[in-house]
Amino acid sequence: MWRELAPLGRDAGSGGYRRHAWTAADAECRAWFREQVEARGLGYEVDRNGNQWAWLGDPLGPDAVVTGSHLDSVPDGGAFDGPLGVVSSFAALDELRARGARFTRPLAIANFGDEEGARFGLACVGSRLAAGQLTVDQAHRLRDAAGVTLPQAMAAAGYDPDAIGPDPERLARIGAFVELHVEQGRALDLTGDPVGIASAIWPHGRWRYDFRGEANHAGTTRLADRRDPMLTYAETVLAARREAELTGALATFGKVAVEPNGVNAIPSLVRGWLDSRAADQATLDAVVSGIERAAREHAERAGIDLDVVRESFTPVVDFQHALRDELRAILTGRARGGAADTGRAVPVLGTGAGHDAGILSASVPTAMLFVRNPTGISHSPAEHAAEDDCAAGVTALADVLEGLACR
Ligand code: GLV
Ligand code: MN
Ligand code: MN
Repeated sequence: MWRELAPLGRDAGSGGYRRHAWTAADAECRAWFREQVEARGLGYEVDRNGNQWAWLGDPLGPDAVVTGSHLDSVPDGGAFDGPLGVVSSFAALDELRARGARFTRPLAIANFGDEEGARFGLACVGSRLAAGQLTVDQAHRLRDAAGVTLPQAMAAAGYDPDAIGPDPERLARIGAFVELHVEQGRALDLTGDPVGIASAIWPHGRWRYDFRGEANHAGTTRLADRRDPMLTYAETVLAARREAELTGALATFGKVAVEPNGVNAIPSLVRGWLDSRAADQATLDAVVSGIERAAREHAERAGIDLDVVRESFTPVVDFQHALRDELRAILTGRARGGAADTGRAVPVLGTGAGHDAGILSASVPTAMLFVRNPTGISHSPAEHAAEDDCAAGVTALADVLEGLACR
C-alpha cells in the first residue's frame, strides 16, 4: 500500500505531499482508496459530503464500528499524517481476516475529505459538514487562493456540491469511531512506547489578520512618510510569540499573503493567518486576545488599518472516557496476556493537533490511537514513523477492532 501511495501528489523538489482537496492529486488518492476497497471485496460508498467509505457488513445496520482517517495533506506534508490511519485500517482488516475474526457489528473504513483545510482554509470540512458543524451556506462561500469556490472545485472533481450537508442518520448508525494517527509530538518517544491512546485535543482556531497601509515606491518614499503594513505584521508575529510564552499556549503565523507583492513596492496589504492552540479555553482566550490587543496598538501607532476575523474554531475535545477505557483494557489485556507481555500500561496522551475524530466526537463515541514519531516532526516531509512501530499500530488497531466488533 505504501509503495502505491508514495508517488501520489509528491512534489519532486521538496519531497513533500501536496494532496489538496479536490485536486488531481486528491483524485489519485481517492482512486487508490477505491482500489483497496474493491481488492478486498468490501462495499464502496461516497457520502453526500464526499467522504469515502468501505463497508464490511450492512452499511445501514446499527452500531457500526468505524476506523480510518484522511489522505489529503498540508502544503509539503509528510507521508504519514492521515495515510497512516487509512493504510493501518486496511492492514488491520487483513489481519483480522487472517485471524478468522467473526464480526458481530458492521465495520467500515473511512477516508474523510479535506481534513487539513490546506486549500480552502478550514480544516475537517468533510467531517464538519457531516456533523452539522459547518453549514451548507458557509461551505458554499469557501474560496481557495485562486478564487475557486468549494462548490466549483467539487463539481470539477465530479462531486455534487448541492448534495452536501448534515448526515445525522449516518452518524447515528456509528457506535464507535477509532482513528489511528501518527503522533505529532515526542511523548511516545519519551516514554518508549510504540502506541498510545488519545485523551484530549486542545481547543484551537485560525484567525485572519488584514493589515492595510499605503502602497508606495520603495526607492523614493521617505521612511517617515510610509504607512507600511509589513512592519505592523512583523510586530504582531513577535507579539504572538511573546504572548504564547507568557501564557504557555502556542501561536503561529505560518501563512502570509502580500499585495502587491513587489520587491520595490511598500505593500498595501499584508494578510497573515494566526493558528493558536492551548490546553484549555481560558488560556486560548488569553493568548488570542493578547495578540489582537498588541496588533491593534502597533497598528494605531503606525496608521495601519487592521481587521481580525476568526475563520475557524474547535473547542476542547475530551474523548469519551468509556471508549477510551475500553481501548486501554483491550490493549493492556493483550500486553499482559500475549507473548509481548511488557507489564506496562498503554500511555494516554493529549494533543494539540486537530482530527476528524475530534469533530465527530460531538456526535459519536470516538477514540484515537497514536503511533510513535521518533522526531515528533509533522506537517513536514521529514515526518516519520518506523516500520516496526507502524506494524505495532496495525496490531493494536486490529485488537481494538476485534474487541469492539467481534464480541
Ligand atoms: C491538523 O493537522 C491540524 O492540527 O491543524
Ligand atoms: Mn495534519
Ligand atoms: Mn491528520
